Amino acid sequence: MTRPSLFVTGASGQLGSRTVDLLIAQGANVIAGTRHPPKNGKVPSRRADFDDPASLHVAFEGIDRLLLISTDAIGRRVAQHKAAIDAAKKAGVKHIVYTSLINPAGSPAVFAPEHFVTEKMLADSGIPHTILRNNIYTDMLLMKLPHAVETGMLAGLAGNGGVGYVTREDCARAAAVALSASGNGNATYDITGPAVITQEELAQIVSTVSGRQVSYVAITPEALRKALSREIAELVVSLEYTIAQGKLAVATGDVKKLTGREPQSAIAFLQEHRAALTGPEQQKAHQ
Ligand SMILES: NC(=O)c1ccc[n+]([C@@H]2O[C@H](COP(=O)([O-])OP(=O)(O)OC[C@H]3O[C@@H](n4cnc5c(N)ncnc54)[C@H](OP(=O)(O)O)[C@@H]3O)[C@@H](O)[C@H]2O)c1
Repeated sequence: MTRPSLFVTGASGQLGSRTVDLLIAQGANVIAGTRHPPKNGKVPSRRADFDDPASLHVAFEGIDRLLLISTDAIGRRVAQHKAAIDAAKKAGVKHIVYTSLINPAGSPAVFAPEHFVTEKMLADSGIPHTILRNNIYTDMLLMKLPHAVETGMLAGLAGNGGVGYVTREDCARAAAVALSASGNGNATYDITGPAVITQEELAQIVSTVSGRQVSYVAITPEALRKALSREIAELVVSLEYTIAQGKLAVATGDVKKLTGREPQSAIAFLQEHRAALTGPEQQKAHQ
């Protein structure tokens, strides 16, 4: 029996490249799609740029199952994802797996509406599909927690809101399984970590892991905007409101259902990355 031909878009990104590695390890017949294909990649690669629909018509030729990784071009993604779905339909792709977001409907997050629309476009396409609604990556915490450790304050607007943080690694594992599955029915999974963690609990976890007291501090949106660069201020503020509304307070068993393995907890992930949270002096004091 011939192995189905699998295609991963965004294969040079962090999620895409890890998913390709996992598919290689399981002996899948995988093609890496990316805007800038490498000369000597681990697997065959093809140029796939959602801003260039002609590239997609060539890239998706002969493909059975496609992993459509949402791009990072917030504001342009509806047109980009539409180009990918249209090209997949033309090429006769039999199944699409899409990386969406937890609770995209009615979410105040600036990056949510494009996921909502893409899910709708997939439904309208008639192509069988799997939607992986990824929660916020635990990995993203490594961007803000070092500052919290340094100042002793985890500042935000999220109040008692919680997040079912999930590691990018668990998202990649779930994506690899969904892409290489044989089923062709439509399905939606909530890809989350094992527990919902409030911001107070997060401060507690960071204190334990770093050995430095960190407390959650409620601040105003104006103060938060001021502390951030202009490029990311609205994204972060809208994310905080999304957490406050409980939109991301989702923890399911879907990662285990797909991969057979429990997802990694936030504390285990942060312990593994303790060096990224603390400076060398703090690490010495903790040893
Ligand atoms: N759940 C979360 O917390 C979270 C956080 C950040 C982002 N995300 C979303 O999840 C996606 C994957 O995450 P990641 O960590 O792998 O992000 P990343 O490393 O920043 O990768 C960005 C991805 O966007 C792709 N891309 C950009 N422009 C494209 C275009 N014109 N055509 C096709 N692909 C394009 C890139 O593909 P190539 O470079 O290979 O062409 C790359 O795979 C992101 O793109 C974003 O939509 C989720």
